[in-house]
Amino acid sequence: MRGVSCLFAGAWLVAAQAIAADVEAGRAKAEVCVACHGLNGNAVLPGVPSLAAQPAMHTFLQLVQFREKRRRDPQMSPFAEKLTDRDMQDIGAYFAAQKAAPSSFVVDANKAAIGRKLLEAHHCGSCHMPDLSGQNQIPRLAGQNVEYLVKQMRGLKDGSRRDIDGTMASAAQALSVQDIDNLAHYLASVK
Ligand code: HEC
Ligand code: HEC
Repeated sequence: MRGVSCLFAGAWLVAAQAIAADVEAGRAKAEVCVACHGLNGNAVLPGVPSLAAQPAMHTFLQLVQFREKRRRDPQMSPFAEKLTDRDMQDIGAYFAAQKAAPSSFVVDANKAAIGRKLLEAHHCGSCHMPDLSGQNQIPRLAGQNVEYLVKQMRGLKDGSRRDIDGTMASAAQALSVQDIDNLAHYLASVK
């Protein structure tokens, strides 16, 4: 399984680098997305992720995964099915160029304090960057929606959300249900 995932990631990373993305074309192609993902990709609906300031490579690869049915969601999947590689590249570049608005989520301060310690203990910032802004295929986590974060971490742990190369699935194994809740509150609170 791990071998197949690596091959999948490798092929698409090459595809991603071969296309020169167009931010303005991406803006037009992303018009249908803002109904759920919010103005400029700053989401306010519970369970819907913000896309603003996400690394372009991450957005591209997740869209490919939805289109290829490796990742599934009843709301999201239909929107990825119609996109070409070029569309996904342009959309990724557009959202990467948007500013992340300060999140308005109400977080539990006690949970966030525990979450911060867990984040340090598990070295999450070594991949997601110390400021949690993400890099390449690794997503930005700062200010992300709490419900979304909880669902993804649970899914990455139990395998119901597949990932591109298995690295995040391994990182999630050590997390308990309570750890996930505490981490999500901390991540959502990061500016
Ligand atoms: C009807 C609402 C809806 C619309 C419209 C929609 N999405 Fe989504 N999108 C979602 C939901 C809900 C999720 C979270 C799915 C999950 O829980 O796994 C999601 C997840 C995503 C993700 C994964 C983010 C991450 O960090 O892993 C990307 C990328 C994305 N959407 C891009 C788009 C793009 C681009 C469009 C427009 C072409 C779009 N979405 C339109 C609801 C929507
Ligand atoms: C070895 C590198 C690595 C480490 C360490 C790591 N992650 Fe990740 N993480 C990734 C990658 C790569 C992805 C993208 C997964 C995919 O392809 O779907 C990801 C995805 C995620 C997501 C999904 C976000 C989204 O937008 O969909 C969350 C939440 C997350 N990581 C939280 C954490 C937390 C919390 C820790 C520490 C306990 C952590 N990660 C440690 C590499 C890492």
